[in-house]
Amino acid sequence: MDQTILKIGAFEATYTCKAIAFLVGIIAHRSIFIYGEWHLKAVAVLQAHLAIWAVILFPASRYLGAVGALQEGSLIALAYATGLFGSISVYRTLFHPLRHYPGPLLARMTKLWHVVRCLDSKNYVVMEEMHKKYGDFVRTGPNELTIFHPDTLVTIYEGNRNPFTKPAWYDNLRPYTGLNTHRSKLQPTALASYQPNVTTHADCLANLIEEQVGKPVVVNQYFYWFSWDVMGQLAFSKSFGMLEEGKWHYAIKMLRKGLELVGPFTPVPWLTRVAFAVPVLDTVRNFLKMEDWCARRMDERISVSSYLIGWSAKHDRLTKDLHTLYGDSIALIIAGSDTVAYTLVYIFYYLAKFPSELEKLRQEQKQEGLTDMHDFRKLQALPHLNGVINEVLRLHPAVPTGGLRETPAEGFEIGGRWVPGNTLICAPRWTISRLESCFVQGNDFIPERWYSKPEMILNKKAFAPFALGAYYCIGKNLAYMEMQYVVSSLVSKFDVRFAPGEDGKGVVDDMVDQFTAAPGQLRVVFEKRKDVVV
Ligand code: HEM
Repeated sequence: MDQTILKIGAFEATYTCKAIAFLVGIIAHRSIFIYGEWHLKAVAVLQAHLAIWAVILFPASRYLGAVGALQEGSLIALAYATGLFGSISVYRTLFHPLRHYPGPLLARMTKLWHVVRCLDSKNYVVMEEMHKKYGDFVRTGPNELTIFHPDTLVTIYEGNRNPFTKPAWYDNLRPYTGLNTHRSKLQPTALASYQPNVTTHADCLANLIEEQVGKPVVVNQYFYWFSWDVMGQLAFSKSFGMLEEGKWHYAIKMLRKGLELVGPFTPVPWLTRVAFAVPVLDTVRNFLKMEDWCARRMDERISVSSYLIGWSAKHDRLTKDLHTLYGDSIALIIAGSDTVAYTLVYIFYYLAKFPSELEKLRQEQKQEGLTDMHDFRKLQALPHLNGVINEVLRLHPAVPTGGLRETPAEGFEIGGRWVPGNTLICAPRWTISRLESCFVQGNDFIPERWYSKPEMILNKKAFAPFALGAYYCIGKNLAYMEMQYVVSSLVSKFDVRFAPGEDGKGVVDDMVDQFTAAPGQLRVVFEKRKDVVV
């Protein structure tokens, strides 16, 4: 009898507990979670909630039994969650400074809508839709505006003292830090020293293609092997040897699988932290293995530079310096490989699609008397070659939507509108650099607009494939050098056409956006050039 009374009393007590839990949820939002950034503490926050829950369950089980305690405990947790998320949703929908901007209803409350929309890693398509539906200023997250106004790229990036900062996403590699936090650019003067790395690998690429002339090949892998081998040499002083061996290196395969994580998880940095802490997904495990692999290669490399370790240890910063080096190597090889390979794939897509473009490049080589492709000064000055490269960078920017920035605390004017402080700004290059208001026939491939038809560029501000300002791409000059050399030398040696059954549609339709983009497969046939070589 006593037990039954106790049980009824306990159940009644949980009504009070649920009401309190609901209130605590609201207070937690209003007094704690509304302030600051929480992504780096996401795991600790989840652990703390689980611990508090366990503390409630334990004494309750004495009166309610294990099943009853679990049942009531879950309802108390639900009451807390309702208070917390209810308060968050009401605030974000009705009171947030961005409440007047249009956008999807769910986006006002949570960025998880974006994760769901990006499960197929097609963020650039999602952004294009947003633009068509809502216009130039779209609220794509509780605290995020996506702005399609052509001034945006210049406003958020340009200038060494630009007040916009890099937001939470850039913490994803922590505890490693990379070139995105400390900056040393590859100077044009140093560029000459990278030439042998580029030319040796590009010549190896030409040999590999020569072995396959007349046969249909998936050209993607060749350009990826090339750019990864170049970056392996740059980051670890050791090529991955893929061009020589004619196959993928296991670490790069792992890394490319790991990058699949980036597409869907990019919109919500805290989710990435949780995924890293509880690596149940295959792609997360691959990403972590890849990080570890890069760290080991860097360890091997610096073991020959014991002075560096000695200096760091003496100044009590060994761990910090090592984390920076590990982060650097990861940032370098991802940022430098995927981008160049992706651009090369699209350049050859257009050359196969429009044979006249191949001819124009050859005519240019002939007119300029370009017999030695190692003449980088001449390559840099070829108008059509660089027109082709720029036009591909415009139509297919290798970072199509990524590179968000945060407005300074006092707010900032963008595209004629005032944007509140600490707002995340996304400026999707994919859409902006195709705007008809900025480029005549914006969706068409017209390399001449970059030299003989400047009237076809109405607003150059819409073109920033390497970003701008203090955080512009450190590899820009190297990237141009790689592309100029590879395109010129392959064009001088081979004809290229679509393989039987290929129409090039897949290379565009199957493209994925994983911060850097990856194209769909492109099948082409290379033939030895038949006319006289210049
Ligand atoms: C077609 C080729 C390339 C394109 C289109 C490209 C584009 C970009 C863009 C847009 C950014 C800024 C990203 C941001 O705002 O977070 C960037 C950053 C960066 N790029 Fe490149 N890049 C290319 C090639 C390279 C190469 C060859 C290297 C290697 C030397 C490289 C290394 C980096 C690094 C280390 C960063 C810094 C990342 C950061 O600050 O977050 N990139 N690149």
